[in-house]
Amino acid sequence: MSRRLFTVGPVEVREELTRAMSRPMIIHRGKEYKQLHQGIVEKLRKVLDTDMEIVFVGASASGLLEGCSRCGIRKRALGLSNGSFGKRWIDISASNGKEVEACEVPWGSPLLPDDFASVLDESFDAVHFVSNESSTGILNPTRDIVDAIRERSDALVMVDGVTAVGGTDLRLRSLDVDALVFGTQKALDLPPGIAIAAVSQRLLDRAAGAEGAGYYFNIHELAEKNAENYALTTPPVSLMYGLDAQLDRMLEEGMPARYRRHQEMAALVRGWAQGRDGLYAPEGYRSDTISVINKGGMPFEAFHSALKEKGYEISNGYGKIKDSTFRIGHMGDLTVDDIKELIGRMDETLEELA
Ligand SMILES: Cc1ncc(COP(=O)(O)O)c(C=O)c1O
Repeated sequence: MSRRLFTVGPVEVREELTRAMSRPMIIHRGKEYKQLHQGIVEKLRKVLDTDMEIVFVGASASGLLEGCSRCGIRKRALGLSNGSFGKRWIDISASNGKEVEACEVPWGSPLLPDDFASVLDESFDAVHFVSNESSTGILNPTRDIVDAIRERSDALVMVDGVTAVGGTDLRLRSLDVDALVFGTQKALDLPPGIAIAAVSQRLLDRAAGAEGAGYYFNIHELAEKNAENYALTTPPVSLMYGLDAQLDRMLEEGMPARYRRHQEMAALVRGWAQGRDGLYAPEGYRSDTISVINKGGMPFEAFHSALKEKGYEISNGYGKIKDSTFRIGHMGDLTVDDIKELIGRMDETLEELA
């Protein structure tokens, strides 16, 4: 039986995109490749509404989180965190030999400027944080955080947009960040395999002289090759076909309509959850792409198995709230009708289990 995915990534991929990815292989040193590469960069700029440099590489998103840590942190970073993925980036920076001070806010609370205002001083040359925290379903007030960092510091500001980009309008054109990192398997609705980042000239300048920047995730090297519309190493051409086709689809839908659709899907799932044991994230900070729902007394294992038998898959909770929550992904190319269908099947399943 085919299974519909309402997961938090990887997500369901449309058949037309799967078909686009099965086009015949091309050599990545030829004219055809250059056109594909250039087209993707240009379309990504349109989708993100930015003139920033766009780099991408065959990897999951973490590849370029690591690239940012290596190339963007000179000596010391402040890592803001209110969930698993904020903590993950702190670990990535530390494991790359960077000194990182963790500013950890309790899970369930949004990251707010007051949480780091007294900690942020001149000693930090970079700050990183997650925009949409996938473990808690909290959409951090990204613009307020960036503005508050900028007011107090010259540090580079690097943002994990892995489950935000494509589903939430971060208004990148006026968001003064040095990096926004994401991947293909979330709200872009493709298989995993390409890490992408919009990067500033400030980050590129720092990357150019960065000690220990490495090779594969070296943002400076990736940008240098970009100038020739080439990849640094053999690129994931099949996935790039999919990305190219998907960017066309996204532009055709129109980004404002795409963001609105995500808000509508999120509102439906929140309404459903509120009629039960509620959401983990506080009101006003709820994600448009992932809802983290309190299990309460729900027999989740039995519920999810029965749901899967009907052909619908959602996601378990994550990190330290794994046992008390579950997650529903409402992102990518899913529609409001898809969400209504899921809700109907979830209600039916719960009644059967009652
Ligand atoms: C917010 C966030 N950051 C980072 C990651 C890691 O991304 P990847 O698995 O593509 O490396 C994830 C994955 O779920 C995520 O949700």
